[in-house]
Amino acid sequence: MSTSNSAPSGAHALAPRSDFPLLAAQPGLVYLDSAATSQKPRMVLDALTAYYTTHNANPHRGAYTLAANATQAYHDARRRLAEFIGVADTDTVIFTRGATESLNLVSAAWGRANVHAGDNIVVTRMEHHANFVPWQQLALTTGAEFRICELDAAGGIDLALLATLVDSRTKVVAFGQVSNALGTINPVTEMVRIARAAGTALVVCDGAQAVPHLRVNIDALGVDAYVFSGHKMGGPMGSGALVMRRALLETMSPYHFGGDMIEWVHDDTSTWNLLPHKFEAGTPNVEAAVGLAAACDYLDALGMDAVRAHEVALTAAAMQALTAIPGVTLYGTADAAGRSGVVSFSVADVHPHDIATALDVDGVCVRAGHHCAQPLMRALGAHSTVRASFWVYSTADDVTRLVAGVRAAQRRFADG
Ligand code: ALA
Repeated sequence: MSTSNSAPSGAHALAPRSDFPLLAAQPGLVYLDSAATSQKPRMVLDALTAYYTTHNANPHRGAYTLAANATQAYHDARRRLAEFIGVADTDTVIFTRGATESLNLVSAAWGRANVHAGDNIVVTRMEHHANFVPWQQLALTTGAEFRICELDAAGGIDLALLATLVDSRTKVVAFGQVSNALGTINPVTEMVRIARAAGTALVVCDGAQAVPHLRVNIDALGVDAYVFSGHKMGGPMGSGALVMRRALLETMSPYHFGGDMIEWVHDDTSTWNLLPHKFEAGTPNVEAAVGLAAACDYLDALGMDAVRAHEVALTAAAMQALTAIPGVTLYGTADAAGRSGVVSFSVADVHPHDIATALDVDGVCVRAGHHCAQPLMRALGAHSTVRASFWVYSTADDVTRLVAGVRAAQRRFADG
């Protein structure tokens, strides 16, 4: 791995392409869909292989050395992840399949016990469906009111409105740290302050698009629950975590029942294991944990500040070049420094799916659609957009290929 060529101009990749076997094997591919999932560093793939070839056994169950090694690998991975995300109480890091499962866990296990008719739940217009639908459905099930905080004129969360939506009957305030569709970085500290000012709501933050791109210190954010996925930060698919205050985890009922999460099983009742096991029923995904820990090592070696600077440079370059194309509309804040590495746009008279298909012919991978954020798309007045998203292997040349591809697609569909 190289850590020396971290040019903030974005001219060079922050991480060499050779660190990523898929990209190394396809030199012409321009991968601009890292907000959907990142490519995987060799270091992560090697860690998975090493786990399976040296330590594989079912953790917490065997008295033999190999099982003890698997248990240790799982434990070490949790500690490494906790350190990376700024969580001092390691056992409050619950491994899950990702942000979506984490949010479903909180809404089911905490929400069903604590939200009742007459209460209300506040989310924002910017949420990914994973941080919208579970709360919407909880409101429908319990009879609570579901409140949506709209965007302000600049396209950010309307904080003044948020302050009026949160009251003494608010049981949950849920928001993303970074919008997956727009890249907008939300003012989490201010939102937490507003959420706390009016009552005792559970403050839930979706960090799926933050942890891969920003230096995140969860303890410092002051939220009650924080969720993220590993596969967007170089880790394996199906990896991720929920971090929640210990007192809440200890009083909350389990989400899933089964092996490993119990203390005693009597004929008529059961008691629960200590944290974190109480929320990790069944054979754990040690592979995912080990791979995610290796992704943390990889990102720390690059440096999260360098990752951030690299993405801001590429985002600024892409925004500037795309804005110069007549007929292109950019969505989200005009300030590249207010975004993670995401540029969402549309091209007049050409459907976003046609742009994405034309780019694919040129070897450029972007996402087109509603980005699992239909409530946001409605507010933007856009059925769908094209989204280009950057990460550590992205380069200024990738931006050039994107912009050239958009121009070519525009000509092709205008002629056709
Ligand atoms: N949540 C992922 C995205 O934004 C899939 O593309």
